[in-house]
Amino acid sequence: MDRIAIIGGARLEGEIPISGAKNSAIKLMAASLLTDEPLRLTNMPRLADTRFLGKLLQRLGTEVSESEGADGPETLLQTREIISTIAPYDLVRQMRASFNVLGPLLARTGQAKVSLPGGCTIGARPVDLHLQALEALGARIDLHEGYVYAQAPRGLRGGRIDFPINSVGATEHAMLAAVLAEGDSEITNAAREPEMVDLAECLNKMGAKVSGAGTSTIQIQGVSRLSGATHAVMPDRIETGTYAVAAAMAGGEVRLTRTRSDFIETLLDKMGEAGVEVTLHNDGLTVKRNGARLRAVEIDTAPYPGFATDLQAQFMALMTLAEGESVIRETIFENRFMHAPELSRLGADITVSGGEARVRGVESLEGAQVMATDLRASVSLVIAGLAGRGETMVNRVYHLDRGFERLEEKLSACGAQIRRIKGGDDEE
Ligand code: EPZ
Repeated sequence: MDRIAIIGGARLEGEIPISGAKNSAIKLMAASLLTDEPLRLTNMPRLADTRFLGKLLQRLGTEVSESEGADGPETLLQTREIISTIAPYDLVRQMRASFNVLGPLLARTGQAKVSLPGGCTIGARPVDLHLQALEALGARIDLHEGYVYAQAPRGLRGGRIDFPINSVGATEHAMLAAVLAEGDSEITNAAREPEMVDLAECLNKMGAKVSGAGTSTIQIQGVSRLSGATHAVMPDRIETGTYAVAAAMAGGEVRLTRTRSDFIETLLDKMGEAGVEVTLHNDGLTVKRNGARLRAVEIDTAPYPGFATDLQAQFMALMTLAEGESVIRETIFENRFMHAPELSRLGADITVSGGEARVRGVESLEGAQVMATDLRASVSLVIAGLAGRGETMVNRVYHLDRGFERLEEKLSACGAQIRRIKGGDDEE
């Protein structure tokens, strides 16, 4: 298994172009199941997760081809015919978002059999809200032997979907199914993440009638068929925030381009409070820190526009070197502090109690062998390694490959001493 070796201490200076958003791209790819015409996605990130979903879609009948377009990587998807309505356990287990093919399969063919995804390292992550949404659209749902059997022989019909809590995946799933339902649907207490807006815009280009995405009430007028479209994937706000924190932690001056600063306003406010200098541009932002020690600040993760849970681990890394004590509360997932003991291996002083972590800033971190259990936790260790003294070796790099495109290349272009070691031993 590959590992990443980092020699800490180099300041970061330069420019990092941000890729298309993983968490939007995989839902947009699933939208291609809704039409027999081609869906062309530009600004596509090339990641393990997008490749993986491409493979699942091929099993369902989608032709998937990748190319380099005038404006970067593109993926063309066309599902002339659904050849299978089954998403098996081995595929859904490996990537939870595969579950989101259920709604489109059901909307297009009236039936689907999709494995329940099961828990994951950051928590139990149930899918009850996804199923509740499909039932509100008239689907009959049965659960047997770990599979969801969904049926709507006469097609889905519009309905009211009132979510008890905000869920990104369930809101997207509801949109993906309701666009082809007969009649009108309304989603209340919808997630407001920018990915909702991206998905709605793409669906509307395909002929859907979705309004209100990005607010807590989304209205959908069902249509009988959708057509092909071309859509540029939104910039990855979590990649943007990650490199912003990396620059703040290592020190130096980094310009992040091809992105939007308004997607990470809450993070930037907190970085400002901590003493990081941020300048906004039309196509992104510049993050600068020269020498002075940062101040500890508190954060609570929350649904958008609150502090993103996907940036919590990175921010914790930053706080390990701040002056004073920072309190970090994780309110979205019940088990998302696995990076804390690994950061402690680098010399951080962190105490975790339930959903709260107390980080007492130290003067410096020191390189060590570390290992992570999920994507954002892994990258927090890379960031900490950039600021530590000596060598940090990050094991289980496959987590990083799921969601960060050309990470080593982008960071070394700014002067980081980071390299991938192919096939090194994993520290099991
Ligand atoms: C999405 O996961 C993202 N994944 C996650 O990013 C992100 O952390 C999360 O949203 C929150 O922003 C993708 O988009 C692929 P949720 P999702 O449904 O949709 C509970 C990453 O690193 N819940 O908004 O699964 C759930 O347990 C990943 O890229 C139910 O109870 O998150 C959680 O506590 C990790 N029942 C809360 O809702 C349900 O049916 C919010 O989860 C669904 C969710």
